[in-house]
Amino acid sequence: MKTGRKVIGLLLCAAMLVGAAGCNGGTSAGSKSPAAVSAGGESQTGSAEKKSGGTVTVGFSQVGAESDWRTANSESMKGTFTDANGFKLIFDDAQQKQENQITAIRNFIQQEVDYIVLAPVTETGWDTVLQEAKDADIPVIIVDRMVNVKDDSLYTAWVGSNFRAEGDKAVAWMEDFFKSKGRDKDTINIVDIQGTIGASAQIGRTEALEAGVKKNSNWKLVAQQTGEFTQAKGQEVMESVLKQHSNIDVVYCENDNEAFGAIDAIKAAGKKVGTDKGEIMVLSFDSTKAGLNKVLSGEIALDTECNPLHGPRVQNIIEKLKKNGNVDKKAYVDEKMFAADDTVKSVSAGTGKFDVTVVTQDVIKGRAY
Ligand code: AHR
Repeated sequence: MKTGRKVIGLLLCAAMLVGAAGCNGGTSAGSKSPAAVSAGGESQTGSAEKKSGGTVTVGFSQVGAESDWRTANSESMKGTFTDANGFKLIFDDAQQKQENQITAIRNFIQQEVDYIVLAPVTETGWDTVLQEAKDADIPVIIVDRMVNVKDDSLYTAWVGSNFRAEGDKAVAWMEDFFKSKGRDKDTINIVDIQGTIGASAQIGRTEALEAGVKKNSNWKLVAQQTGEFTQAKGQEVMESVLKQHSNIDVVYCENDNEAFGAIDAIKAAGKKVGTDKGEIMVLSFDSTKAGLNKVLSGEIALDTECNPLHGPRVQNIIEKLKKNGNVDKKAYVDEKMFAADDTVKSVSAGTGKFDVTVVTQDVIKGRAY
């Protein structure tokens, strides 16, 4: 912990007969925040690594294993933070519970890890525990979803997706699709199977759909419920919605696994998934291999990418912190769109124009997850 690190630092300084100027109490052996970088450009991380023979210890608090995306994300982290790469990874699966993540972070602090990496289940509720990490001089890197904290200095950097942009792209695609089919004046009944409520991925994607419904007066949001990013819950929600609504046009699933569950429910109810009038169009997010296979078969009309391969990105942040402490506070990942056909070739959303890739076997073969 912070105090222990200071004591070790002081003892080392005394033993090496280094003057007090080199041993000020403001930077402990574990202090690696950008502010702790010395004028010579050597961060305090160097001291911590020497303590542990050069190995960098990373405590990673993962949300859980709710989806194929999450599995790919865990594999990316485990495949990056290996012994061979000079890391010791302490991986904690929080099983979707914020209290488990808070406990994990406290354990990481106790274990004096060099870096804490947090994939937060929801945005709020992190101020206290992140303050504890800051007090212990352990840099925190947020990955995937965002945290909503009063003081931005409670984390060092964030890397992840622009979830609102993902939703805006899907909504723009829907607008263009219905227009090109001459259905832009038809009533379009939409079901929103949301992600985990309060997660950035849910907030951004839901907000985008709600904005689309507000903009297009013929779009009706007939049902909106969380599927918690899981296949089982996606199926359960869709089964219950199908009992209440007979004329659904679109199911906007906020991830691939919810889409798989919704498709099973639609088929079991004797309805057809597809993009023709009278069929139920399924939209999804993630673009996992399994998701793209459903695009290839026409069961998912559009899959908007959410890239989970954050391991090397977090490693890059850590390497930069080790060298000079200069990292982007926030970094968004570039993401694509994948459709079953070329009805819509590109969309304009926000300030950008995005190409839509038609899924083929080759596209799926080339996917890393
Ligand atoms: O935060 C990213 C989301 O979380 C992915 O869309 C989803 O599959 C995962 O569980």
